Amino acid sequence: MSAIPTTFRVKSFGCQMNVYDGERMGELLSAEGMIAAPDGDDADLVVLNTCHIREKAADKAYSDVGRLTREDGSRPMIALAGCVAQAEGPEAKRRSKMIDLVVGPQAYHRLPEMIAAAARGERPVDTDMPAISKFDALPVRRRTGPSAFLTVQEGCDKFCTYCVVPYTRGAEISRPFADILTEAAVLVEGGAREITLLGQNVNAWTGGLDKLIRAIARIDGLERIRYTTSHPADMTPELIAAHGEVEQLMPYLHLPVQSGSNRILKAMNRSHSVDSYLRTIEQVRAARPDIAISGDFIVGFPGETDEDFTDTLAIVDAVGYASAYSFKYSPRPGTPAATMEGAVDPQVMDDRLQRLQARLAEHSLAFNRATIGKDTRILVDRKGRLPGQMIGKSPWLQSIFVTTDAVIGDMVDVNVTHALPNSLGGELTVQKVAA
Ligand code: SAH
Ligand code: SF4
Ligand code: F3S
Repeated sequence: MSAIPTTFRVKSFGCQMNVYDGERMGELLSAEGMIAAPDGDDADLVVLNTCHIREKAADKAYSDVGRLTREDGSRPMIALAGCVAQAEGPEAKRRSKMIDLVVGPQAYHRLPEMIAAAARGERPVDTDMPAISKFDALPVRRRTGPSAFLTVQEGCDKFCTYCVVPYTRGAEISRPFADILTEAAVLVEGGAREITLLGQNVNAWTGGLDKLIRAIARIDGLERIRYTTSHPADMTPELIAAHGEVEQLMPYLHLPVQSGSNRILKAMNRSHSVDSYLRTIEQVRAARPDIAISGDFIVGFPGETDEDFTDTLAIVDAVGYASAYSFKYSPRPGTPAATMEGAVDPQVMDDRLQRLQARLAEHSLAFNRATIGKDTRILVDRKGRLPGQMIGKSPWLQSIFVTTDAVIGDMVDVNVTHALPNSLGGELTVQKVAA
């Protein structure tokens, strides 16, 4: 390689924690004097911030690397970051000669020195999980914008038998209260009206997530707080109570269940049962009756029978999810489930996924339809395709289209006029614009 890059691009895949990490890598590179390449422009450095959650993730990352060759045969400096980098380590350099440096999710504060080494022709690899938190080494947030992510907890000690996250992100760690509060205040100063607290198990934040939420709610100018992803076993009574008491805490809870069969939940090592999960939902709804529940599902886990799958459809009906993500089971090397017997036939898996998604879509549509006629407030976060059309999020995280001269970051009061079947919400009429 040659000179230190002057322009960069960070491409993030996977979960919101990765999006957050991607932003912080960008801010770090900017603080070093590099410039973010505008969309469509060539960059001297490309950081691929990868996800390893499902099969072929590594293959996809390598083909993304391959595609970075330019028409004249040259290429940018290439950094492999994120969970594939963590999982592959030095192996990544053997699999692709184009990769100049490999940096894991807990080591990216060292990017500047690694880039300098790569410019000298070295190919540094850092997948350490250092005791000193990367957060201490990163520059102050520079991000501006109405809706911001803030990672408060990282890693996972749950070891669900299908999941790579405990291996790629390491053990659970919680950031200190004061650091989080400082970062939240900086984000609000930068224009954030909404903050989403992030963690692989955000509700396992050691200081009590409810206390953190109550403290952040006192920041002047912050109107909305969300958090994700929660584990059902860590929904404390205090956190549930906060849903009924903290005005800024939005009525939305992402609470993955994965399966509606106790037998499968046990094989997944989920540490919650169908009953305990439903009880938690009941308590959350008692605290906040209008709350939107969303979830994650896996179909075709090893040994899943038709009966198990029917139980999954039953829990979908029992909860009535406002939205959900559903996946076919994907064996991940090194996880306990990868060597379990009873692989489900791919066609059966396809069929179950289709049936599950159809059922989930019915519930999303029902949830969205129930908001027709209601007055609500949206936080405008992007432009629509039609002239004058803007899209904003309702408190229940629905995307609502509206014709308005409001700009991104405004909060607009709207009346819901229709709902679309794909759960994206409908077109609305403006009633008044909030001051
Ligand atoms: N920490 C969160 C989310 C982790 S990953 C939680 O506990 O739920 C996001 C989702 O990906 C999971 O909820 C699960 O539904 C899905 N997932 C994880 N590993 C998977 C695998 N091996 N195959 C299919 N889906 C998987
Ligand atoms: Fe993965 Fe389970 Fe941890 Fe979620 S709780 S990150 S699914 S191991
Ligand atoms: Fe993917 Fe890593 Fe997130 S594997 S889902 S980017 S924690």
